[in-house]
Amino acid sequence: VSRDTIEALGDIVGHDGLIVDPALMQPYLSDWRDRFHGRALAVVRPRSTAEVARVVEHCVAAGIAMVPQGGNTGLAAGATPVGLERAVVINTSRMRAVRNIDAAAGTIAVESGCVLSDVQAAARQAGRYFPLSLAAEGSAQIGGLISTNAGGTAVLRYGSMRALVLGLEVVLPDGSVLNGMRTLRKDNAGFDWKQWFIGAEGTLGIVTAAVLRLFPAQHTIRTALFSLPTIEDAMRAFAAVESALGELLVAAEIIPDIAVEMRARFHPSEAFPAPRDGWYLLAEATSALSGLEDQIDAVLLDIVEAGIAKGCTVANNPAQREAIWAWRETITESERRFGTSAKHDVSVPVSAVVPFVEEAGAAVAAAFPSTTVVAFGHAGDGNIHFNVVIPQQESIAAEDVNVLVHRIVAAYGGSITAEHGIGRYRRDELPAHRSEAEMSAMRALKQALDPRGLMNPGAVL
Ligand code: FAD
Ligand code: MLT
Ligand code: ZN
Repeated sequence: VSRDTIEALGDIVGHDGLIVDPALMQPYLSDWRDRFHGRALAVVRPRSTAEVARVVEHCVAAGIAMVPQGGNTGLAAGATPVGLERAVVINTSRMRAVRNIDAAAGTIAVESGCVLSDVQAAARQAGRYFPLSLAAEGSAQIGGLISTNAGGTAVLRYGSMRALVLGLEVVLPDGSVLNGMRTLRKDNAGFDWKQWFIGAEGTLGIVTAAVLRLFPAQHTIRTALFSLPTIEDAMRAFAAVESALGELLVAAEIIPDIAVEMRARFHPSEAFPAPRDGWYLLAEATSALSGLEDQIDAVLLDIVEAGIAKGCTVANNPAQREAIWAWRETITESERRFGTSAKHDVSVPVSAVVPFVEEAGAAVAAAFPSTTVVAFGHAGDGNIHFNVVIPQQESIAAEDVNVLVHRIVAAYGGSITAEHGIGRYRRDELPAHRSEAEMSAMRALKQALDPRGLMNPGAVL
């Protein structure tokens, strides 16, 4: 690749949008966990859809592979240019305009580089609510969230990203622009092609903008932290809360005491906001109606009085709510500071959460006795982050742990990734968990949209 070919990208995006200095490129070439490292000819940061289209056309003409990237918080290494001879990273962080907000219709049109917390804030300012919420929300961008079909803590009520996208704009692997920025709730005119790109992890094109759904602001917010002896009790408490609160329930997250212990080591001055026990269930119920606090509290109290939970702490103000959520949302961060872990983002039927965690826990303890299991997360959706912490001095290969855990997941009819995606981290395992017919359907779509194989090669397939 000649120097002129790369310099020409600078002519398209402006020279402050082109990074070629190896030291300055570094943060864009590793994943969030610093497990995957790649190299690239350049990092290109376009400012508009038109610039993305011209960059793609130019790369196609020169035979250069393209790796789309947003906030680079992904946990499957889909945005890291690993093992590519001639590739550029196309990073969307300069495309952060809110194109339109229609509070009455409940829609917001944003560019793909908008950070999730900024979209939440824009919705709030308009008197509305954007429900997608996850620990990386201060960095993750809309294009990345769409391309991974992100989940997070409000899926129970609002669904994953797929359920929140009404319209999409995509630059295809040949540089043409597919504009579907519609705001409709119902639209059956032909294939719903936007679904192909949601969760495609940047392998079918570059998402440049989207129309997202907004919801009414929530005026009653009750956040509770139950203390329970076992995971079985935690799931019993979840079932009781869910049947009593129905659609009011937004989040149901489980936390094992080991995760509390790990976080406490890094935050020794912060008191855990509930009595310590083996497990915790964080449940949050909200409503657009105000004044439902007492009714919700009565349900929470019933669970304690029925003897399911030993205790329950309820937040009475935003600071207390934040303190409870901090113990849930910083588990991943504490785990990273602790050392290496074999991460699993699995889902099983909700009724199988307890037997799965018990069986996989026993299997891991038998095969890898020096490891520690930290199983936590979105239990209300059957999505458990079954992470296995490997002590620094041990030479256990994370892949061996993955294979063992995923074999048990498959036996329960589960998935090897509920929300983080396949990327490069799980790519080699995918064919064992999808039929040949499913793999060929995926390959056929990839071939049809990206016949030259230049869009994020090595990710997913
Ligand atoms: P990136 O990491 O930059 O990219 C992710 C993938 O999308 C890559 O394959 C990339 O090529 C592709 N991509 C990025 N932008 C585009 C684009 N414009 N067009 C096409 N493809 C693109 N995820 C959850 O689902 N739920 C959670 O609860 C959750 N919690 C997390 C907590 C922490 C602490 C961290 C670090 C991560 C967490 N994640 C979670 C993972 C991550 O935040 C999500 O996967 C998020 O969607 C990634 O967004 P991003 O902008 O950082 O994307
Ligand atoms: C979360 O829910 O906090 C992340 O998706 C979990 C992870 O780190 O596996
Ligand atoms: Zn998660």
